[in-house]
Amino acid sequence: MKFRTRAIHVGNSKDPQTGAVVPPIHLASTYIQPGAGEWGEFDYGRSGNPTRHNAELTLAALEGGHKALAFSSGMAAIHAVTMLLSSGDHIVAGTDIYGGTYRLLHKIANRSGIDVTLADSTAPSNLESAIRDNTKLIWLESPGNPRMSITDLQACSDLARDRGIRVAVDNTFATPVLTRPLELGADIVMHSATKYLGGHSDLIGGALVVQDSGLYDDLYFIQNATGAVLGPFDSYLLSRGMKTLALRVSEHCKNAGKIASFLDAHPRIKRVLYPGLATHPGHETAARQMTGGFGGMLSFEIDGDYQQTKAFVESTTLFQLAVSLGAVESLIEQPASMSHASYDPADRVAHGILDSLVRISVGLEDVDDLIQDLDDTLGRVL
Ligand SMILES: Cc1ncc(COP(=O)(O)O)c(C=O)c1O
Repeated sequence: MKFRTRAIHVGNSKDPQTGAVVPPIHLASTYIQPGAGEWGEFDYGRSGNPTRHNAELTLAALEGGHKALAFSSGMAAIHAVTMLLSSGDHIVAGTDIYGGTYRLLHKIANRSGIDVTLADSTAPSNLESAIRDNTKLIWLESPGNPRMSITDLQACSDLARDRGIRVAVDNTFATPVLTRPLELGADIVMHSATKYLGGHSDLIGGALVVQDSGLYDDLYFIQNATGAVLGPFDSYLLSRGMKTLALRVSEHCKNAGKIASFLDAHPRIKRVLYPGLATHPGHETAARQMTGGFGGMLSFEIDGDYQQTKAFVESTTLFQLAVSLGAVESLIEQPASMSHASYDPADRVAHGILDSLVRISVGLEDVDDLIQDLDDTLGRVL
């Protein structure tokens, strides 16, 4: 089955009891067992739930993985991955990563004796230099957040495999429509399902997808032992969202490409960071690695200081001032004060998260209206 067919048919079998084409939402927290000490397919809602299971089947099918786990948030999914490690282990992570991931690695994982080194993953040799004897995990995002940097996932996975190091990829921005990291050699794909997979700004969820069944068993054990599972209603919303993922992402890409070209030609914009632009340093790798488009996210540096940038993001009409991304409505934010505020200020500067940087999540409105909104605001505020 092709991607769009899988999105609609895998994990969405009709209800055998009623024939309903949409499986019902199962709310039960516990299940009657065939006998004491004998287990049916489901026993307790933390260990498994049919609605969550359906969403997990779809997730695995879309990422080309063996199995998936749905979590109560993207952060819970990332946390579960860090729990594969022990005290004395070391993580190498890209420099262009979500602020919450930075915070989790530097302010939570470190409490368990796990060391973290950030390295610019746009050149695999930088990761290579950061690897130590005790490195157990490489954490990557491509496109990265918020600078849309592109990492060659195949090259990074190859160098990690040679050294027995696992690679995990946060695929939230690209979605499996555009990039499937497991096919490129990664061990774990992670999602904030809150974003494109859900697609409508109405659920918080996370996911992990893996190819290796032993790794799945370890992650399942961690999830069941620690408890951060996705609830039935959110699992249902996630399943519903994924049915239209490919259609939405394709339109997000078209809109973002037009907006990138508009901004690129605007005199008050210093630089546009969008992998679809030929001038983007990762364009060639992105063209090879991303299938069917360059994503719906882009950042740009405006010709202004912190206050002017703040005023700009506060003044658009259709682009709404909010963190998060990947839904039908367009959002705008200033990473330095919003999505990446949890970075240490020195790291923020070192990693190019400038005060004048603006990040937008391009939605599915008519692109002419979105361009008009940006143009009007640039004229009014700068
Ligand atoms: C790239 C990326 N990864 C992970 C997360 C965390 O996901 P959640 O907010 O669902 O916990 C986010 C949230 O913004 C994100 O943008």
